[in-house]
Amino acid sequence: MLDKIIRERRTIREYTQEIPPLELRKKVAEAGLYAPTATNSQPFLIRELSKDEVASIQNLMEKRYEELLAAAESCEDKKVAKVINFYWRFSKPVLAAPIVWLFLGEKTPSFTQRLQDAGLISYTEAKASSAMRISLGCVIQNMLLKAKELGLGSGVYSAPFIFLEKDESALLEDLGIDSQKYFPAEFLTIGYPAENPDRPHSKTLDEVFKYNE
Ligand SMILES: Cc1cc2nc3c(=O)[nH]c(=O)nc-3n(C[C@H](O)[C@H](O)[C@H](O)COP(=O)(O)O)c2cc1C
Repeated sequence: MLDKIIRERRTIREYTQEIPPLELRKKVAEAGLYAPTATNSQPFLIRELSKDEVASIQNLMEKRYEELLAAAESCEDKKVAKVINFYWRFSKPVLAAPIVWLFLGEKTPSFTQRLQDAGLISYTEAKASSAMRISLGCVIQNMLLKAKELGLGSGVYSAPFIFLEKDESALLEDLGIDSQKYFPAEFLTIGYPAENPDRPHSKTLDEVFKYNE
């Protein structure tokens, strides 16, 4: 069963407009609580967005998209505009999804900070933020697999942040989220799939696993 869920989960970018019941959304979120996290920090917060909130985010993103495209015209590298359009294309599914979650990471000072402050180790920040990111990834993966088990589609989106970068703190404050305490990590979408995508190209096991006979 788990193997089937792992293999058949896909990023869903087109949904029906049916809203998954709160009971199911809670089950998906709860699955995140069972994920391994560095020092058991469980450093995340999920803020479900209303239609109006998504519409405001769309306005901010559209404005910034136009600004970036205009700025790209004076770039020497003529592929910059293409990259902006690529990110825009892969941001748009968030704006049409029936359920959109802003998935936030907690800015918790890590235990290792003390060791750095004591002059015993270095590069803590990079290591701590890597552990934090991996923790968030574990939480997200639990939720994606749970969604699949419940017959829901899901998606993870980083691309929209290209268009929200400048407005991030203000956006969080508008959503009632303390931007000193949390940072926006990903957008997640949930809903009933209106597409059945093929598995995209994948590496082979031999490429990623160097094992002992
Ligand atoms: C951290 C992360 C960020 C992602 N950001 C985006 C995104 O911004 N837009 C998008 O369409 N897909 C995004 N994806 C989905 C990937 O493109 C997708 O997982 C990958 O192509 C493999 O396809 P699959 O999920 O169907 O197996 C993201 C996935 C991850 C894990």
